[in-house]
Amino acid sequence: MFRVLGNRKVTPNAHEMIVEAPEVARKAQAGQFALLMVNEHSERIPYTLSDWDKEAGSVTFIVLEVGKSTSDFVRLQPGDEVAHVTGPLGMPLEVDNFGTVALIGGCYGLGGVVPVGRTMKAAGNRVITFVEARMEGMHYYLDKYESFSDEVVQTTTDGSNGIKGHGVDILEARLKEGVQVDRVFAVGCPFMMMITAQLTQPYEIKTFAALNPIMLDGTGMCGACRCTVGEETKFACVDGPFFDAHLVDWHELRDRRAAYIRIERDVCK
Ligand SMILES: Cc1cc2nc3c(=O)[nH]c(=O)nc-3n(C[C@H](O)[C@H](O)[C@H](O)COP(=O)(O)OP(=O)(O)OC[C@H]3O[C@@H](n4cnc5c(N)ncnc54)[C@H](O)[C@@H]3O)c2cc1C
Ligand code: FES
Repeated sequence: MFRVLGNRKVTPNAHEMIVEAPEVARKAQAGQFALLMVNEHSERIPYTLSDWDKEAGSVTFIVLEVGKSTSDFVRLQPGDEVAHVTGPLGMPLEVDNFGTVALIGGCYGLGGVVPVGRTMKAAGNRVITFVEARMEGMHYYLDKYESFSDEVVQTTTDGSNGIKGHGVDILEARLKEGVQVDRVFAVGCPFMMMITAQLTQPYEIKTFAALNPIMLDGTGMCGACRCTVGEETKFACVDGPFFDAHLVDWHELRDRRAAYIRIERDVCK
């Protein structure tokens, strides 16, 4: 069993969950995720490793409460236990000094960009972090972003905090101004990642997105997470989750993610 060490509400629908998982923390690298089962009968649910502490033996997830499994997880309190934490899974990101790296985070990606930014900064990159949210009160982790970013840009859809608009709008404005960006990493909902890819493609800026198809085993055995990247079939759990965003078949990803939506709604009734 894996003990819950912390549960903090960071926005009205997102929790920072800290779980004791020393073996996962010991090997974790930026870009990876873990699969978690709240109890022996739960679904196996993938969560991005948004932080880890090798000494404390803990891993941190940002969990957006969207349905049954995420609700079951965020209901746990420090001292409670989860049945399984399997990881780290997925390919670590390729890290190098690319020059200027732009990160775009939305939804749980506000946590997911943290290890990416830290690693890219440590490799000598200039890091610009764009974090988008719907409204005031939906941003968190500013102190973390500031620790690795040369610039942090906060946006809200309604303009109630930071610049009005989306991260991608501000990135577009910067690119139009002639700001040099050498690599982009996007973590969040598929629509945000898709429009980021559409923006950067004409500028020929290598862009990576953390794909989030439905996953079951997380080890390349079941095929549930298959997606098309550059006309090749890939398994997001073992070949990803980060892929060249210009090559992803975004419409297929959207359709596959929605495959069980009616059943998921019924479970939550
Ligand atoms: C690599 C990866 C990393 C992720 N990281 C995070 C994260 O850090 N924080 C976070 O809150 N969410 C993350 N997700 C999404 C998270 O797994 C889903 O929100 C969760 O599975 C929803 O389960 P549910 O029962 O609460 O909701 P449901 O009502 O069952 O599902 C809501 C939606 O979530 C997606 N989903 C459902 N089951 C799965 C599954 N087994 N695998 C993947 N997606 C599923 C589907 O699109 C579905 O329509 C990640 C997904 C992937 C693939
Ligand atoms: S989740 Fe089964 S192959 Fe990826």
